[in-house]
Amino acid sequence: MILALETSCDDTCAAVVDGATIRSNVISSQAAAHERFGGIVPEVASRHHLELVNPIVDAALAEAEVALGDVDSLAVTRGPGLIGALLVGVNTAKALATAADKPLTGVDHLHGHVAANFLEPDPLEPPFVCLIASGGHTLLAGVRSHDGYEVLGQTLDDAAGEALDKAARLLGLGYPGGPAIERAAAGGDPRAFEFPLAMTNDPRLDFSFSGLKTALLYAVRELGEARASERRADLAASFQAAVVDQLLVKLRRAARGGSRRRRLPGGGWRAVALGGGVAANTLLRERVAALCEAEGLELKLVDRALCTDNAAMIASAARFLEPTTYPGYLGWDARA
Ligand code: KG4
Ligand code: ZN
Repeated sequence: MILALETSCDDTCAAVVDGATIRSNVISSQAAAHERFGGIVPEVASRHHLELVNPIVDAALAEAEVALGDVDSLAVTRGPGLIGALLVGVNTAKALATAADKPLTGVDHLHGHVAANFLEPDPLEPPFVCLIASGGHTLLAGVRSHDGYEVLGQTLDDAAGEALDKAARLLGLGYPGGPAIERAAAGGDPRAFEFPLAMTNDPRLDFSFSGLKTALLYAVRELGEARASERRADLAASFQAAVVDQLLVKLRRAARGGSRRRRLPGGGWRAVALGGGVAANTLLRERVAALCEAEGLELKLVDRALCTDNAAMIASAARFLEPTTYPGYLGWDARA
């Protein structure tokens, strides 16, 4: 049984996971605190984590009906993320582990997103290819074992979620942008505007979203404020479609093990999984399901609540890792 903490961004999260079974998964979103700034303010995030982390840990233990002494070990996101935010989780976890004399495992946040797929119900067994798209990262992970992943390709500039967040801000749709774009897009035509699909002719599996963001900016400028506001649904729908299209092109190429022009080392994959906040997007989920159907691939669509940041996924990754006893990032040796 593992008690895990996740504070890499703007959600304060704690969970108790027993084997592959979630006993509790408590998430306190700070979205309301950041909304008026139109994005995450790192220092505000750190302060909120500091206030929330102890009550959230208590809530996770209470909901799981266990005491700190009952868990076998602790786990915490060690990065990547906002450094001040990570510090709160890491130091809380170190304090709890020291007080309870339990081992502590530092977990890579992206490994956590992959490991959400190992949880009940229907845990997915490697090998599979996992598209991780969040506010901070966009990458294709080749997963051959439970304890890690290989980066097959990743964004060279903005993350997919970051692009959606920036687009939402530009369109005056609020924060967080992904869900706001999704809602606005529901009433729009995805073919109304033609946005560029970057890097699709590039045989690698990397992504780029910054050109798309600029294309939206130009489209809005060309329309003028009033027309852009009238056509907000069409702009949102077209932008969302372009983000999903680019993700799909590279996911298909990865699953197939390359293109006809160029085979990728390692070959193709038999199963596909998703992770990260953008994986909560309905259009993306539908398109990935259609891709898997067409290509005869096994598909794992993890619950939406396990796509966005949470601590159960961190516990899930920690199950397959050794406790962290080495000196290193954020001073792990402080326990020695
Ligand atoms: O994984 P996550 O919760 O945090 C990070 O590690 O970044 O992902 C947050 C990102 C944000 O950019 C948010 O706008 C996006 O995921 N997101 C969505 C949806 N829900 C969250 N994007 C598209 N559609 C959604 N339904
Ligand atoms: Zn994340």
